[in-house]
Amino acid sequence: MEFDVAAYLKRCGEAVDGFADRAIPPENRMPGVLYAAMRYSFFSGGKRFRPALGFAAAEAVSGRGEDALPFVTAIEMIHTYSLIHDDLPALDDDDLRRGRATSHVAFGEAMAILAGDALATDAFRLFTLPEVIRSYPAQTILACLSEIAQAAGSGGMVAGQVLDILSEGKTLDMPTLEFLHTRKTGALIRAAVRCGGIAAGADEERMLPLGRYADRLGLAFQVADDILDVVGDTAVLGKPVGSDEGKRKATYPALLGVEEARRRLWCLLDEAQAAVEPFGERGEPLRALARFVGNREH
Ligand code: IPE
Ligand code: IPE
Ligand code: MG
Ligand code: MG
Ligand code: MG
Repeated sequence: MEFDVAAYLKRCGEAVDGFADRAIPPENRMPGVLYAAMRYSFFSGGKRFRPALGFAAAEAVSGRGEDALPFVTAIEMIHTYSLIHDDLPALDDDDLRRGRATSHVAFGEAMAILAGDALATDAFRLFTLPEVIRSYPAQTILACLSEIAQAAGSGGMVAGQVLDILSEGKTLDMPTLEFLHTRKTGALIRAAVRCGGIAAGADEERMLPLGRYADRLGLAFQVADDILDVVGDTAVLGKPVGSDEGKRKATYPALLGVEEARRRLWCLLDEAQAAVEPFGERGEPLRALARFVGNREH
């Protein structure tokens, strides 16, 4: 029977929502507008793809996806902050996200910036929650902390976003575009997979295939995002189509055309799936999530 990716994403999403609901302050606390803005963006129907990757990696290693929960919730908070800031007028200047008004449209630019700041910072507080400290060896928590801080920071996602902005209106060569994509999107995806493995206690021998899988998949995810920006449907996508062309962004379709971009996308996804063959049956969620990246419509 074909693996049910939609059900898997839903199950991981519900677990993440439960954890985050306890971690993000309620709106009736002062200053309520901050918590309202954080919650507006966090609980807005994202696919929860990165959490699902962490669950799938943990499942491949230990058989227990939930091992990844606190770490992938932190990643999803950072991902949400990155989207709020990515949509700001100073960056991509988009007004639609996950099918609703972007944070700065709904709350104003100052609150959007600050809600992003708070999500990014609070993500790191999850590592010190008593329930997390009780449940994992200190070295596991530190290893995930290091993965996530590196992936999100000045050598990872933020570096990619800087290159993305600097590249507007320019034609990049392929190695530079790949460098950009593997940072702005690949880095957090890689961290989600690796943290899943670390949380489940993977040894070096099992971290290697997970790393190979994550590298291919992280790049593939942004290639698919670039393609959807050209051929997608705003109503399904929940964000504006044609945003990249409007800003003359450096993308795979801009450089190669949609057909060649799609061919390369599936090459990466085939390589990602092959990388986790050693996990056998337990690797099926990881392989199904890779196929989902190629087939997704939002
Ligand atoms: C969109 O990420 C931004 C990129 C990094 C490509 P997703 O496609 O995972 O967005 P949500 O979380 O489902 O809204
Ligand atoms: C966003 O890339 C990557 C990050 C938010 C780090 P895009 O700008 O292509 O993402 P979308 O298309 O707005 O979701
Ligand atoms: Mg962008
Ligand atoms: Mg954008
Ligand atoms: Mg995009």
